[in-house]
Amino acid sequence: MTKQFDVLVIGGGPGGYVAAIRAAQLGFSVACCESNPYADPKGEPRLGGTCLNVGCIPSKALLHTSHLFAEAAHSFAAQGITVSAPKIDVPTMVGRKDTIVNQLTSGIKGLFKKNKVTQLNGHGSFVAKLDAGWQLKVGEELVEAKQVIIATGSKARHLPGVPVDNKFVCDNVGALNIDAVPKKLAIIGAGVIGLEMGSVWRRLGSEVTLLEALPEFLSVADVDVAKEAVKIFNKQGLNIQLGVSIGEVKVSKKGVSIAYVDKAGVAQKLDADRLIVSVGRIPNIEGLNAEAVGLKLDERGRIDVDAHCRSNLPGVWAVGDVVSGPMLAHKAMEEGVMVAEVMAGQSGHCNFDTLPGVLYTSPEIAWVGKTEQQLKADGVAYKVGKIPFMANGRALGMGETTGFVKMLADATTDRILGVHIIGANASELISEAVVAMEFGAASEDLARICHAHPTLTEVMHEAALACDKRALHF
Ligand code: FAD
Ligand code: NAI
Repeated sequence: MTKQFDVLVIGGGPGGYVAAIRAAQLGFSVACCESNPYADPKGEPRLGGTCLNVGCIPSKALLHTSHLFAEAAHSFAAQGITVSAPKIDVPTMVGRKDTIVNQLTSGIKGLFKKNKVTQLNGHGSFVAKLDAGWQLKVGEELVEAKQVIIATGSKARHLPGVPVDNKFVCDNVGALNIDAVPKKLAIIGAGVIGLEMGSVWRRLGSEVTLLEALPEFLSVADVDVAKEAVKIFNKQGLNIQLGVSIGEVKVSKKGVSIAYVDKAGVAQKLDADRLIVSVGRIPNIEGLNAEAVGLKLDERGRIDVDAHCRSNLPGVWAVGDVVSGPMLAHKAMEEGVMVAEVMAGQSGHCNFDTLPGVLYTSPEIAWVGKTEQQLKADGVAYKVGKIPFMANGRALGMGETTGFVKMLADATTDRILGVHIIGANASELISEAVVAMEFGAASEDLARICHAHPTLTEVMHEAALACDKRALHF
């Protein structure tokens, strides 16, 4: 008999599993189908999508281990701690990462049970429109649902002529499973994955070269942050080549050879043991049979949706990496919750103006709202409060004095327009700015809030004070 649900969610990543749980909490009967090749101990596809299996969580586990390694190698001595030169056991590091992934992905299974979400194993595809809802196939099974949420995510973009085997030439999947420290690591694309994975292997001893097509470094970040970051990363030994044009890539048993033209127009060759290709991600609608049922895509192949993630088809919604907006797990989750709540007649919303972005490098980089270059381009009059971590007692005690907090506030209304952090714990510090901006706070509001001493949050406080030229400790 055909299985029937109020809601079928296609894809069990952060957008899909969160949408499924929220919809079930709101009283819908919900199923979520998943078809990835990452099997759990029972042989079922693991929930959690890119984020938990081959993205956010595994990359942060490797970043943590390699950070500890670098601390032991380079920072302990200055604090009077003597240890012999640390050694890295890569299989143990990767195994620890896998344990974390297993724990979290089976945790979602538990959350599905708790919230009465049915997990269906198999690839979801549209079959036909029904009078009330849709008929779909999950694997070989027919399913009917009144509403469908597409949360099929994204996949790594590959370059023509650069075949990814996830051994010598890796995308994000192989990059998270490299089994020994490469002597030389090449990375095409100095974006988020390139910088995070480059940091992991550089800390563990690889010679890392990043080949980036754009002439500017990290153009998504505030210009001051990008300038500071490139200085720091160069000092850490990341060789970042901007404005390059990639030519032929040859793979042999010995490794990879990459021909490229540098920014001065000179032909170059880079030999490496491994190559990571991290040149962005593309929306994934493979095998959905979307075109046959008339699902509208935008000019970049993403599912075309309105501000509430409704597609052009009745009762069909789409969230996460497969629709427009930054490809971030927390954005996908926000949209998942919003769709479930709107479906239930509530007023769900997703505020793109307060969506934080984070790079988990060392130091971390985090931001929310407008960059200074955007405000200039928009002709907005603004004021700046910028405070270095060097002026903060806690940062000194931690030996984490690089970087700064830069706050941008409207020159007339004082409303906070953007906050940009490069420094220790930026990923956590940015939350204060997100909350402030969500509530439409002014820099004066943050300046009047008591911040615990000694904490890194005081840098945020001082930056707010500095917007009005009244910093107390700088
Ligand atoms: P996905 O997580 O891609 O999940 C989609 C799921 O749908 C997949 O499991 C797929 O198998 C399944 N699927 C697809 N088609 C079908 C079908 N027809 N039937 C059944 N199942 C299907 N974001 C952050 O916010 N912070 C980070 O630190 C971060 N780090 C990252 C690190 C790396 C290396 C990578 C690659 C990404 C990282 N991201 C990070 C991005 C984040 O992983 C994505 O934005 C997020 O996973 C998107 O969620 P989603 O639910 O839209 O899609
Ligand atoms: P990205 O968009 O961050 O960076 C890709 C880089 O590759 C860009 O700088 C681009 O100019 C460059 N590039 C493109 N084509 C090129 C070419 N032919 N030659 C050389 N350089 C080229 O994409 P990335 O790093 O692949 O990550 C994908 C997405 O995953 C990110 O955009 C982000 O949404 C998500 N992600 C988020 C993380 C986080 O939140 N901390 C961590 C990792 C990934």
